[in-house]
Amino acid sequence: MGNQNLEPNRRQVLTIAGGSAAALLLAATPGLAADGGLRGHMRALAGKVFYTTEQPGRWKGKAGGHAPLIKMDKDCNDVLIRSATKHPMSRAHHIVKHILLDGELNFVKEQVFDIDFDMPRARFELQGYRGRFFIVSMCNLHDNWINYADVA
Ligand SMILES: [Fe+2]
Repeated sequence: MGNQNLEPNRRQVLTIAGGSAAALLLAATPGLAADGGLRGHMRALAGKVFYTTEQPGRWKGKAGGHAPLIKMDKDCNDVLIRSATKHPMSRAHHIVKHILLDGELNFVKEQVFDIDFDMPRARFELQGYRGRFFIVSMCNLHDNWINYADVA
């Protein structure tokens, strides 16, 4: 009983990174990135192949409904990542899936949404993960939008 009352205090909410793509640009700055080449490529592709709040490219004005929001909770080695896109779900226009990538853009997990039942929200559980991760939110009409956060 006492432990349940303490549960929220034990969990450490580390990041709420909704719409913080400016940090993605910072990370893409040569000299600040641990793997500068990779992030250099990302900077060149942002706004062209994928989109962020800061780099909406041809989808200017659509970031609010497409850039994934990220919340993360960490409890010892357990990391819970929750992502959401504020986007409608209809057959004509919907979020297809959220993809979790590691800091080097390797695929980790994905959640495909059923437009009849799901909201565009995903949960990813990881154990022992440290460092940057990316969430890709895929719209069937407005392409891929990326946000990221870091696990300390
Ligand atoms: Fe869309």
